[in-house]
Amino acid sequence: MSALRGTLVKRVRKASNKPSEDAYTSSRPGESVRILISRERIRARIQEIAREIRKEFGAEPLHLVGVLKGAVFFLADLAREIPGEVSFDFIAVSSYGKNTHSSGQVRLTRDLDSSIEGKNVVVVEDILDTGMTLKYLLGVFRNRKPKKLRVAVLLDKPERRIAEVHADYTGFSIPNEFVVGYGLDYAERYRNLLDVGILKLPESTHEAPASP
Ligand code: PRP
Repeated sequence: MSALRGTLVKRVRKASNKPSEDAYTSSRPGESVRILISRERIRARIQEIAREIRKEFGAEPLHLVGVLKGAVFFLADLAREIPGEVSFDFIAVSSYGKNTHSSGQVRLTRDLDSSIEGKNVVVVEDILDTGMTLKYLLGVFRNRKPKKLRVAVLLDKPERRIAEVHADYTGFSIPNEFVVGYGLDYAERYRNLLDVGILKLPESTHEAPASP
């Protein structure tokens, strides 16, 4: 059990499969996470997306490319829901701090292990926010001549978009709130929550966290 999980106490959830409308509390005073999208909804939506992706590509092999770190759980669950031949790889980027995303200063910090030339590639992202990360990555990937290039995102915040990019597969379109869980973090915390939730910080925290 990770140290973080140990600091979180989940309020009592009903034993039924009713969608969660509760919250996580934290050992950090005044900090809490209100569940926005339950694990059950995430799972069901990922199963739908997996079916849609397999339908588009028929029996052809698929190569998923996850963008570290936020996409790890989405990729892991999506890969296991897609039938047939599926391989995957990871890439990492840095944005010189979240507040500079709009400046477009994105750079590669970890490249793929293998070539994507001639492959059916699906880029897997946890969240599409300003779109600057995806715009940069799609440019990089197009130059490498994949057979097809598609994008799957779990969450989309259309209100925040700066770059003109769109996802081919979207899990959930969400309002402009700071979300954590299921891979998404706040200062590297909360990635391990099973649900996606809206982070509430103590009143004393004047500065709102940079989205997402
Ligand atoms: C998040 C997310 C996307 C990016 C989206 O990554 O995983 O990669 O931001 O934002 P954008 O659309 O405004 O470019 P982050 O930089 O937080 O790194 P992480 O995945 O390691 O948490």
